[in-house]
Amino acid sequence: MSNTDQFGSTLVVNNLNDEVVTIQLNATRTTGETAQTTRDIQPFSQLVEGADSLFPTLSGPPGYTVRMTSTAGNLTGAIVVTGFESPSQSSPSQANVVPVSDAAQILMFSYLFNTPTPGFAAPVIINMGTTEAVVTLHAYKDGQRVASVQQTVPAGTPFTNIASGIFGDQVEGDFYMVAESDQPLLGVVFIFNADREPSMSNAVALSAVPEPGNGDGSDGGDGGDGGDGGDGSDGGDGGDGSDGGDGGPTISFANDVQPIFSGRCSSCHTLSPFSAGLNLSAGNAYRNIVNVRSSQATNYITPNDPDASYLYLKLQSDSSRYVGSRMPQGRPALGDADMQTILTWINEGALDN
Ligand code: HEC
Repeated sequence: MSNTDQFGSTLVVNNLNDEVVTIQLNATRTTGETAQTTRDIQPFSQLVEGADSLFPTLSGPPGYTVRMTSTAGNLTGAIVVTGFESPSQSSPSQANVVPVSDAAQILMFSYLFNTPTPGFAAPVIINMGTTEAVVTLHAYKDGQRVASVQQTVPAGTPFTNIASGIFGDQVEGDFYMVAESDQPLLGVVFIFNADREPSMSNAVALSAVPEPGNGDGSDGGDGGDGGDGGDGSDGGDGGDGSDGGDGGPTISFANDVQPIFSGRCSSCHTLSPFSAGLNLSAGNAYRNIVNVRSSQATNYITPNDPDASYLYLKLQSDSSRYVGSRMPQGRPALGDADMQTILTWINEGALDN
């Protein structure tokens, strides 16, 4: 669930008993922060309540998982997630509440995608075990396992990231994912189109990890394990040949600016319901910042006007120029060379080059 400017969640619980049932709800954020609340539900009635009223202390990103216990069985439920940034400003999606007993060590996420498809896919994996889980995420495409990356997830806590944050450029287009762990897991996957309209579905348990290439003579064992776990810094290719001579821009967004964002910012600033509200990952950053108004002040980037470029101001040591913390939050400031790169890029018209 989440409760941000971009996404809202509503919890639905149906009491199919002929008695009043008390439910206890325990929320745990990706950061480990928790909150609790209880509700009574009348016989054969339902609770329909927004995350903002259930868990007011968990307002803002990132999202959280909710574990429900109750005084009687025979309950069902759903989570409805609404995208506020879509054209309708209320684009809905729904997934079922699942029993804890559905947790499994191997989970299947039937459909994800990574660029160049517009939009993004974000799986959520919850460690239902009592110790830290080591989760291996395998991506399968065209009959092959094309990537495997490892992720640790603390006990009782959800993990989420967008596909490009998990696999970088190791997998493109449509694929499916299997999560394999030493702890029981539950999962759900969100996909969003270019208009940020969400849809979601539950992951399902598998009894074995698919091993393509085994036993049918098609060479090549594990096929997996490629690469470095994906920094996604490959910057959405936009600019043809604009690199040139005098008078032209000296800074390229894809080659000079995006690598700064990918290296220093997008560990926090990816767009999923569970991370901060600004996506600076490769292929997404440009359209999210140039001439786009920030939630706190002016545009993130106003071409040729660094003083009206809030993203640039958020990097300054002079905290009178912005709200909140200097970026990157809690980490060393950008060096002079990186600051100059961003400044020059803005002064050269903030091109998508
Ligand atoms: C450790 C996590 C983290 C990192 C790394 C990080 N940020 Fe942030 N950023 C945040 C959080 C949390 C907020 C919201 C609180 C605030 O504004 O202080 C935020 C807010 C912002 C905002 C304002 C958003 C708005 O809509 O008003 C901008 C702009 C921004 N960050 C840019 C950057 C840039 C550029 C980098 C990399 C140079 C970066 N951040 C790195 C966590 C991070």
